[in-house]
Amino acid sequence: MTEHFLVRGGARLVGEVEVVGAKNSVLKLMAAALLAEGTTTITNCPQILDVPLMADVLRSLGCEVTLDGDTATITTPAELNHRADSPSMGKLRASVCVLGPLVGRCKRAVVALPGGDAIGSRPLDMHQNGLRQLGAHSEIEHGCVVAEAEGLHGAQIWLDFPSVGATENILMAAVLAPGTTVIDNAAREPEIVNLCTMLTEMGARVEGAGTSTLTVEGVERLRPTEHRVIGDRIVGATWAFAAAMTMGDVTVRGVNPHHLDLVLEKLRAAGAEITTLDDGDGFRVVQDERPRAVDFVTLPYPGFATDLQPFAIALTSIAEGTSMITENLFEARFRFIEEMVRLGADARTDGHHAVVRGVERLSSAPVWASDIRAGVGLVLAGLRADGVTEVWDVFHIDRGYPMFVENMQKLGADVRRVDDEPDRA
Ligand code: EPU
Repeated sequence: MTEHFLVRGGARLVGEVEVVGAKNSVLKLMAAALLAEGTTTITNCPQILDVPLMADVLRSLGCEVTLDGDTATITTPAELNHRADSPSMGKLRASVCVLGPLVGRCKRAVVALPGGDAIGSRPLDMHQNGLRQLGAHSEIEHGCVVAEAEGLHGAQIWLDFPSVGATENILMAAVLAPGTTVIDNAAREPEIVNLCTMLTEMGARVEGAGTSTLTVEGVERLRPTEHRVIGDRIVGATWAFAAAMTMGDVTVRGVNPHHLDLVLEKLRAAGAEITTLDDGDGFRVVQDERPRAVDFVTLPYPGFATDLQPFAIALTSIAEGTSMITENLFEARFRFIEEMVRLGADARTDGHHAVVRGVERLSSAPVWASDIRAGVGLVLAGLRADGVTEVWDVFHIDRGYPMFVENMQKLGADVRRVDDEPDRA
């Protein structure tokens, strides 16, 4: 893979950017389409690599899937294949979200262990424990999660941690499990709320969306629906950080600002002036002076999202003063700091804390993206580095950010995609 980005530092980002549907929502909604026989339509889908990969996963289970612009149309058959072990499974994390729907519909599932970002160990114990409480046996066998149930039943489930993926899988199995299921310490992310809304439209009985306690009354069957993906709050926040770092003026549309309450508050503390748009569909970030140091602690929603941690490090690396960043979810996410140090950042880690002493300017260098957010974090850092920064392994960025380079250029950044491959034939 020889594609890389060239980022020339120095530009101040100015203008307007439109954010489309969230990666971490659309993939789960596509999995939810498995729960109802018939044709489900999902709109506001982002055009990112993970969407066609998820479509392949659904096709391997017997669905017909068409992707047309921002619309995914999924026709789910009466009889699903319960083995999800196609090659696409290993290429994205969200593929594991077919586990719950398959257990709900087929009472058995063989699901290849998922791929996705190398950001630390990502066990599935809570997913499996939840399914066990609902009456399934579940083991890991030959690289697959195997789950089988004679019949499912409602249960009281306490999660050790408000895991997004475990909440989604247990929820999607529970909607078809007779009786009452209560998921306590459930994840509260807006993407979970969006999934609950879609399930309710499909005829599921779910209460408590957006709180730590989800109560589900199992129903016999669900019906297909048409549903719109919520705007990507992580992509929206990316542009907010980019504006603050480059002392820019950026209006972000297509995201509910309330999904970013804490994030925008942190950027205000760094010196940004932030106003929400009158129609509630976005916000404007204006930063006039060098950002000030701010501490960040990652936590499940409504805490500061771990996916934004690289941007917090990029911002604090050029801020005035010293900041402490604490990562509570994915230990390997601090690998990003090694690349930031190549760019001249003054940062060091101790366990799950990082201390970042802001410098006035970073200095360009070749750097490597280790995951989606780290890749974008390096581009943001490159915007504040002297010279031209080469960011390699940008296929990670393509997995999560539609029109990334185009949007950067529209805002005035000097970012180019380069493919050095001499002969593509
Ligand atoms: N965990 C367990 N056992 C489990 C499940 C999770 O120990 O059975 C732990 C994880 O190791 C982690 C924590 O619980 O320490 C939280 O993990 P969670 O299950 O919430 O994460 P996920 O569902 O695997 C999703 C997003 C991630 C995002 C996290 C946290 C998708 C496809 N991925 O992952 O997004 O970082 O939630 O918000 O929805 C990204 O988009 O770049 C990304 C990595």
